[in-house]
Amino acid sequence: MTDKFAIFGNPVAQSKSPQIHDQFAAQFDLDIDYQRIYSTEAQFADDLAMFFSNGAIGCNVTAPFKEQAFQACDQLTEKARRARAVNTVFRQQDGTLLGHNSDGVGLVTDIVDNKLVAIRDKNIMILGAGGATRGILEPIIAMQPATITLANRTVSKAQSLANEFSDIYSIQVTSTEQPEYQNAPDLLINATSASLSAAVPVTDANLIGTHTVCYDLSYSADPTAFLKWAAEHGATQCIDGKGMLVEQAANSFSLWTSHSPVTKEVITWLEHNCTQQV
Ligand code: ATR
Repeated sequence: MTDKFAIFGNPVAQSKSPQIHDQFAAQFDLDIDYQRIYSTEAQFADDLAMFFSNGAIGCNVTAPFKEQAFQACDQLTEKARRARAVNTVFRQQDGTLLGHNSDGVGLVTDIVDNKLVAIRDKNIMILGAGGATRGILEPIIAMQPATITLANRTVSKAQSLANEFSDIYSIQVTSTEQPEYQNAPDLLINATSASLSAAVPVTDANLIGTHTVCYDLSYSADPTAFLKWAAEHGATQCIDGKGMLVEQAANSFSLWTSHSPVTKEVITWLEHNCTQQV
């Protein structure tokens, strides 16, 4: 029997998830049907319930439905609970819906395993304090960095987010406009939505040391505005979010099928088949 999966989003036509999951399924000779489902805020809860009542096994959820999916699930993994957002839903044996968030695992796997960049004992700065940052914080903290600094345009939002994680880590907070820090970070992650408008969220070029690796959660066929800026100011390595996209998909796929796909060739495929900024 064909196992049914989907990605819910709005827009969703640009999503590469169907091709990514089809490539994973081929590695294990699995017969899957992975669709794109366009929904609306008013319809999302009903569309999700209908999808699973028709026997589907799992789905991914992208913008703008991750918070609604968080509300709709019966149970949550610790990562989804911390993220307050769900990008992966799994229908369990008893029919209940488990909500998970694989974004942060995807990021950390890409940084540490694929790009061979250490997080443990390193100084990390994250730009942005919205949903994307909340989604990646727990897996980054789990890697035991020396320091984490959240820099945001609206400092109070960074402070609230730091407070949410104060039971597991002491996060420092500063402004993207006039950032305060001791040394240039080892790893500078752009988790703002600035790339979507081709804006660079910081201007302080001293944030980039000769040892600084820059990672943008966004990606496009060409380097993002942030990564162009980082390269111009001497970042030692510039990485965009294509590897994260494939790794978060692999983590979802493992939850649904108990198979761990090999990602290297799928990342290479995405690098050659990426047309749009995400
Ligand atoms: P997401 O779910 O993608 O994280 P979000 O919750 O709206 O989206 O958060 C967007 C983040 O990008 C915020 O941290 C925002 O800063 P503010 O909190 O000050 O609004 C940040 N951001 C967006 N555009 C930016 C820009 N041009 N420069 C700097 N930061 C920007």
